[in-house]
Amino acid sequence: MNPRPRHFLFLLASTRRDGNSEQLARRAAAHLPPGTEATWLRLDEHPLPPFVDTRHSTGYGDPDGTARLLAEATLRATDLVIVSPVYWYSLPAAAKLYFDHWSGWMRSPALKLRDQMKGKHLWAVLVDSDQAHEGSAGPVLESLRRTADFMGMSFEGALLGHGSKPGEALQDPGTAGQADAFFRSVLK
Ligand SMILES: Cc1cc2nc3c(=O)[nH]c(=O)nc-3n(C[C@H](O)[C@H](O)[C@H](O)COP(=O)(O)O)c2cc1C
Repeated sequence: MNPRPRHFLFLLASTRRDGNSEQLARRAAAHLPPGTEATWLRLDEHPLPPFVDTRHSTGYGDPDGTARLLAEATLRATDLVIVSPVYWYSLPAAAKLYFDHWSGWMRSPALKLRDQMKGKHLWAVLVDSDQAHEGSAGPVLESLRRTADFMGMSFEGALLGHGSKPGEALQDPGTAGQADAFFRSVLK
């Protein structure tokens, strides 16, 4: 039997276009097996409403508007790639808000996000302006690892780059090489 075809969702969390994290992700994605489906979404083009914790009051219905679009894109994917700069040792607000909404989507009877994400793959492409190996990205990595674990997803690893101005991360030949090899496990 053929394995399930992979569908990658690249969620761009930077607040600027064509920045370091996006450049790294596009370089890595160029090495996905031919024909792999890939969807790219910019979180700043799809602003989510503020998240409200209604777990113990009204509960959650079906998301609508932007939340519906993002939830459906998430559910369609087999592989979710968080493409993000490090902001204050964390994910930028838009990415954090997206994950906060998972709390509602998990409880929406129509979506049951947690059941549906089980067994899917989570990847990260992260850039900070630190020079040390994990640098400022350590806490982000840890939270993504734990999120994957909580959701029953497999955390496939992170591509880490360092740079401040756009273009700087890929100037490092080591980082560029890691980007070229990042998705090699998908070929197996
Ligand atoms: C609001 C803000 C917070 C940042 N916080 C950190 C940080 O905690 N650690 C770090 O090393 N770099 C930090 N940076 C630098 C960015 O991570 C770095 O410039 C990165 O290359 C930006 O990625 P992008 O080009 O994909 O947007 C911060 C930048 C901004 C704008």
